[in-house]
Amino acid sequence: MTKKILIATSEAVPFAKTGGLGDVCGALPKVLKQNGHDVRIVLPRYWSIDKNKYQLKKIISPMGVQMGTGTVWCEVLEGVLEGVPVYFIDHENYFGRAGIYDDGKREYPDNAERFGFFSKASIQLCKDLGFSPDIIHSNDWQTALISAYLKIGEAHDSFFQNTASVFSIHNIAYQGVFPASSYSFLGLGDENFNESKFESYDRINFMKGAIFYADAISTVSPTHAEEILSPIGGNGIAQYLQRRRDDVCGILNGADYDHWNPETDSLIPANYSISNMEGKNICKRELQKEFLLEEDPNIPIVGIVSRFAKQKGFELLAPVIKSIVQNMRVQFVILGSGEKNLEDFFGGLPAKYPGRIGAWVGYHNKKAHLIEAGADFFLMPSLYEPCGLNQIYSMKYGTLPIVRETGGLKDSVEQYDEVLGAGTGFHFEAPNSDAIYYTVGWAISTYYDRPDHFKVMRERGMKTNFCWQDAAKEYEALYDRALGRKAAWS
Ligand code: ADP
Ligand code: GLC
Repeated sequence: MTKKILIATSEAVPFAKTGGLGDVCGALPKVLKQNGHDVRIVLPRYWSIDKNKYQLKKIISPMGVQMGTGTVWCEVLEGVLEGVPVYFIDHENYFGRAGIYDDGKREYPDNAERFGFFSKASIQLCKDLGFSPDIIHSNDWQTALISAYLKIGEAHDSFFQNTASVFSIHNIAYQGVFPASSYSFLGLGDENFNESKFESYDRINFMKGAIFYADAISTVSPTHAEEILSPIGGNGIAQYLQRRRDDVCGILNGADYDHWNPETDSLIPANYSISNMEGKNICKRELQKEFLLEEDPNIPIVGIVSRFAKQKGFELLAPVIKSIVQNMRVQFVILGSGEKNLEDFFGGLPAKYPGRIGAWVGYHNKKAHLIEAGADFFLMPSLYEPCGLNQIYSMKYGTLPIVRETGGLKDSVEQYDEVLGAGTGFHFEAPNSDAIYYTVGWAISTYYDRPDHFKVMRERGMKTNFCWQDAAKEYEALYDRALGRKAAWS
């Protein structure tokens, strides 16, 4: 049955993106729409979202949002993403800033207020529009409070009587933990500031609240759903997830092949397909040029595109990258930004290994596409990875992933079998530098010594189809379960 669905998110491509959350929330709604649902997206109107470029129209002015300490006024703009209405909550003071979550150095000190307000505004928006959704699907800590607001303030409001909430955890390491002094602004009720709901070591924890209140909880791969229920993977809140374990599931993200497909990608120097790989050779040459590497088609390139955060495991690569380039005939291209020490370390490598390592510190979408297309391997040594998208894109671009066996990396990349030539990439399990060294070595030796295996793996990867249609079906089933759960709660 088709449903009315509101996707609440702090990022959605093409409007705002800092990582995979933006990719997911820009793709899933389009497919839900194709499946006949009345799906809409709500986003903050950050300063970087150009009103003219996206032809945003003001549809509500003003909109009053009742917070715990009084009414906050904003406006609502509307745009469209391939037929999906996108609402933008416009509040100059909260969102008219250069960054989404931080100023480049530090997180904004009022993020609790900014995203608490955004969550409450998303609910008010439904009322002002007269759009009574079957499902509000919120994502990560930024919109976590929606599940709570639906059960606390609005619980007895007939407008939301049949609305169930789904909460998706994309990254459990970021829980939205803030000083308790923000609590009164949020208007969640003093009686709910307790250990089983929002309180955590005298602070407020947004994600914990959603875990209590959401009608259904998901994360972005089946393996990660198991991981977050364990003490280590649960990042301090596993016991609360355990209480809801029957309502927790894992749905592997899809890839938006409208954006990530070597046959049609307009951001790469040449397109290619399994039947004509010449374009990949051109992309490799361009990649070597752009990153000032020795221009040789026969040296394998290992690509990296990543946030430089602890999660991603690059601290483990740092001690061995020197031995890798000294002992193996290989090049590296590295694109990333985040933690300063890693930016400095990786950004400094081209000067030490000219022609062998290229690096660019920063966020650059076009370079990310060029690396996917031009590299031969793609390295993701993540300590944990809820899903991960680049390994999925890599396979489509004929770029074999080298991944640590965790979360969505484990669920999407099939281990190489050296006897049969089976698999789509290379796994290692131990979270340490030696494992990276030897697995990169294994991949490189496959390139040189078993070129027939390398070729069939590449083709197998290019044939993979992690389409959003499959994931959307699972979300549809999850929405049904959430509605059943909501009925039982009332
Ligand atoms: P996460 O969301 O944890 O960062 P994902 O693998 O799910 O990890 O998604 C990361 C997304 O962000 C991918 O689309 C990737 O290409 C993009 N990305 C990450 N770092 C950069 C960068 N420095 N420049 C351009 N794109 C980047
Ligand atoms: C998170 C995770 C990543 C996932 C993305 C989209 O940021 O770190 O693994 O792919 O969200 O769900």
